[in-house]
Amino acid sequence: MITLRAASEADHQTLVRAIQAWWGDSRSPEAARELALLLPRLFLQHFATTSLVAETDDGAVAGFLVGLHSADDPELAYVHFVGIEPGHRGSGLARRLYGTFFEAAAAAGRRTVKAVTSPGNHGSIAFHRKLGFRLEPGDTVVGEVPVHSDYDGPGQDRVCFVRDL
Ligand SMILES: CC(C)(COP(=O)(O)OP(=O)(O)OC[C@H]1O[C@@H](n2cnc3c(N)ncnc32)[C@H](O)[C@@H]1OP(=O)(O)O)[C@@H](O)C(=O)NCCC(=O)NCCS
Repeated sequence: MITLRAASEADHQTLVRAIQAWWGDSRSPEAARELALLLPRLFLQHFATTSLVAETDDGAVAGFLVGLHSADDPELAYVHFVGIEPGHRGSGLARRLYGTFFEAAAAAGRRTVKAVTSPGNHGSIAFHRKLGFRLEPGDTVVGEVPVHSDYDGPGQDRVCFVRDL
């Protein structure tokens, strides 16, 4: 059985190692290390209570969601990172993590959830569409997907998702 619990700062090392291990087979070790930089400790210091860890009965991490409630927009919640251990993919675990995040966000008065991904992450785009996210219009379209050019800096294009709660 897999249980969801709130994250804590003590999870940081485990989650960084998980990213490096879970993505290590599909990326170079260097690229997996770069990906882990998307999760600096500050997320687990300041947004742990809105983030979730999925654990197996023996305490192994099967997945996680790092999300936050916007400090600037009281109606907005944001999913920064979601990851599922490869052996647990395709069994509804990410949907469950999002569902729990949506419920907590709605209970805290949030009405909208946003997230972004890279245009090349077709799995993430398909997953977010399945979960009811819309793709926000961008300044260009790549393969029928609206893309925001240079969104996160020069050459860092992104696809932006939004979903009402
Ligand atoms: C994307 C990811 C989080 C999905 O996790 P998951 O637990 O396998 O997803 P679920 O089983 O909850 O799937 C929910 C729905 O999305 C669909 N889906 C999930 N991954 C998909 C993919 N790669 N391609 C197409 N559809 C996908 C499922 O078919 C399912 O649809 P259904 O409920 O209608 O059957 C997981 O594959 C992952 O960790 N990928 C690498 C990290 C990543 O890209 N994260 C997102 C950006 S930070």
